[in-house]
Amino acid sequence: MKRIMVSAERSYPVSIGCEWREEILPLIQGRARVAFVVSTSIRRHLASFAAPGILAHIFEIPDGELGKSATTLESLWESLGREGFTRSDIVVAIGGGATTDIAGFAAATWLRGIDWIAVPTTLAGMVDASVGGKTGMNSDFGKNLIGSFHSPSAVLIDLAWLTTLSDRDFAAGLAEVVKTGFIADEEILTNLAGKKIKDVRASLELTAELIARSLQVKSNVVSEDFKESFAREILNYGHTMGHAVELHSGFELRHGEAVAIGMIFIAELSVQLGIMSSELLALHRRILTDLGLPTTYAASAWPELFRLLALDKKSRGRALRFVALSAVGKTLRLEDVNEGDLKLAYERLSS
Ligand SMILES: NC(=O)c1ccc[n+]([C@@H]2O[C@H](COP(=O)([O-])OP(=O)(O)OC[C@H]3O[C@@H](n4cnc5c(N)ncnc54)[C@H](O)[C@@H]3O)[C@@H](O)[C@H]2O)c1
Ligand SMILES: [Zn+2]
Repeated sequence: MKRIMVSAERSYPVSIGCEWREEILPLIQGRARVAFVVSTSIRRHLASFAAPGILAHIFEIPDGELGKSATTLESLWESLGREGFTRSDIVVAIGGGATTDIAGFAAATWLRGIDWIAVPTTLAGMVDASVGGKTGMNSDFGKNLIGSFHSPSAVLIDLAWLTTLSDRDFAAGLAEVVKTGFIADEEILTNLAGKKIKDVRASLELTAELIARSLQVKSNVVSEDFKESFAREILNYGHTMGHAVELHSGFELRHGEAVAIGMIFIAELSVQLGIMSSELLALHRRILTDLGLPTTYAASAWPELFRLLALDKKSRGRALRFVALSAVGKTLRLEDVNEGDLKLAYERLSS
């Protein structure tokens, strides 16, 4: 088992490759009440959980994005209130990123913030959502617009969860790992070179290594810039176009799949602007394709994507901005790119 410490508004351990049932016992000991917030498909895994001397409540919420709503939040507040949760009690979130986001937000708001532990069950949740302290929910105005920074007191990563994940979801989670490799850790790219998704899944050791390396980078970045000023922005590599593509697909594409397309876009643009070498662009294509991730998107989507990029720019109240790379591990900010250049880069990736 590997352990990484994250220092944000509080310092907390991330245990990678642990057995969550064992690891959690000392962390909840001494608490009168524990609220296990689990998504529907995960609930059955809790059937046999017992912690002597602790009153364990199980609060089930809908799977995925459906559960990340004001309705869920309200029902969690009601449950916590009904069971008399105090400041010395604790919330344990078990599920994908959507579940840990909303359960973390419930913990952030109950009594102005009680402790919570994240037990991510998807690869995306393990390498991204559970670490960094962002909690929140969706609303009619968009995803993740309502939320708060409230770090968990521990993150328990048990690789056994991953066995039931589809190849598609596993690959989508790996897209963020690949992103982290490009922005900060070449070793990740070396580890993934020539690997197909089945090769990665076949090795728990490799999976644990990739998760640990990714989280080390995220932890370093978040520790330096908890509330997202500049340093944290590098984690958005591939995300500017990625978000537009994700929205355009009506969320048919997984977040990680959209980010894979977004990385190819920014790499194409960077080569075109003379910032990146064509070899590095080719490496992007090779690694993502080998993992079965998409690297192309419909040519006809450009006008709508450009509109979405402009909308994003407006809602953030600043110029359209990309995180780009000049080499592996060397990030820079790209602003004021003209529409013609954006369109040309898109033409190179679209089909
Ligand atoms: N807080 C952050 O910093 C942060 C970062 C990245 C993403 N996120 C959020 O995370 C969410 C995406 O995370 P996700 O990809 O885990 O999605 P998700 O939570 O929606 O889970 C995807 C699906 O997988 C199912 N599932 C969960 N565990 C499983 C398992 N072990 N085996 C089989 N199926 C399983 C879920 O029930 C769900 O239907 C988004 O809401 C996103 O906004 C947050
Ligand atoms: Zn992402």
